Amino acid sequence: MPNLRKPAAACSVLSMTALATVLGCGLTVTPAKAEPTVEVLHYWTSGGESKAAGALRQDFEAAGGKWIDAPVAGGGGDAASTVLRSRVLAGDPPNAVQLKGPNIKEWAAQGKLAPLDEVAKAENWDAILPAMIRDVVTYKGHYYAVPVNIHRVNWLWVNPQVMQKAGVAIPKTWDEFNAAAEKLKAAGIVPLAHGGQPWQEAGLFEGIVLGMGGADFYKKALVELDPKALTSDTMVKVFDQLRKMRGYVDEGFAGREWNRAAAMLMNGQAAMQIMGDWEKGELTAAGKVPGKDFVCANLPGQSGYTVNADSFVMFTSANADRGAGQKLLAKLILGKKFQETFNVLKGSIPARQDMARDSFDECAVKSMDDLKAAVDSNSVVPSMAHEMAVPGAVRGAFLDVVTAYFNSGMTSQDAVKRLAEAVDLAK
Ligand code: GAL
Repeated sequence: MPNLRKPAAACSVLSMTALATVLGCGLTVTPAKAEPTVEVLHYWTSGGESKAAGALRQDFEAAGGKWIDAPVAGGGGDAASTVLRSRVLAGDPPNAVQLKGPNIKEWAAQGKLAPLDEVAKAENWDAILPAMIRDVVTYKGHYYAVPVNIHRVNWLWVNPQVMQKAGVAIPKTWDEFNAAAEKLKAAGIVPLAHGGQPWQEAGLFEGIVLGMGGADFYKKALVELDPKALTSDTMVKVFDQLRKMRGYVDEGFAGREWNRAAAMLMNGQAAMQIMGDWEKGELTAAGKVPGKDFVCANLPGQSGYTVNADSFVMFTSANADRGAGQKLLAKLILGKKFQETFNVLKGSIPARQDMARDSFDECAVKSMDDLKAAVDSNSVVPSMAHEMAVPGAVRGAFLDVVTAYFNSGMTSQDAVKRLAEAVDLAK
């Protein structure tokens, strides 16, 4: 509703601009100031995640925005994807959505997303973002998502007190991992804290693929979907290792959320956990100190850096307030202030590459250094489990076979055969 300075009775509301011109009533019509508003669909609901999401909301509201929260519980985001699809089908998409990897291009290709080029130009995104992130968030030369962070996925989290009590060192090879796990088990400690959900099993799987096969093998199998790599002896060994790890989780693992498994590591029930560094966000949100209460270590085996970058896309909206809200949110997310506040809380490192390191702890600094080394040695790989590597249907095929294997007596030979078939069907 435009603001009106008190006009003479003769001037009615309809088409004020035209009327003012005709009548010469001396009215001035100032377009109403948009109230930046966004409804934000995300799945950051665990302790550490919601603290980080809260920082975004605070910044947005402090900048005069109206935030409508639409969280969907369920780590890994599969539940959130289902909600998103049904809302789009119902013609009622949220304004901003936590969405990553190839899904960005899929939604952009359908014309559902608002390009962010105006903000990107004004905020110099071309210069501040690393090429690998720019590639993910652009489609046909246009920005369709704003990246929030860089999460490293291939971490081993360790409770040093528990390891010391059992006289076990942090393993560097898979043989050492298995030996450590056997010793922990014999000491009555759960070797591996784990949540029985397909994305979490896929996280174990892709970590072993990288650790056993190396970055080139990972890319061949989990990105290029090469049938020879998918059915190779190396892949059989990967499944054999996954089978061993089934013996290192506790009986109550089925369906457990990742942050519940993190609690087992924190309270000393379990010695190790394999998870992306949102784990660190959870541990520090509970007051745990890196290097003292927990250690962030490389996964056993060959090195490499598994990337998972969160981002937000903006679904097209004809509403001026929502449009203004989307622009404000995109601008804030890649601002230096927010990049620091959010990533310190979330456990990730900034997406923008011109940030000072002072506020970041030893695990974040290690992540920054390891990322640089991996870029130099071409051993950065996109996380398949976290929707960075392949389209949704293909990821679904991986998750189905891997979780069926983890929860059954299927042989590793059968698993690689079923995997190659399922991936071939889905691609
Ligand atoms: C990932 C997401 C992370 C983290 C994790 C656990 O897919 O990108 O930000 O929150 O799930 O929910």
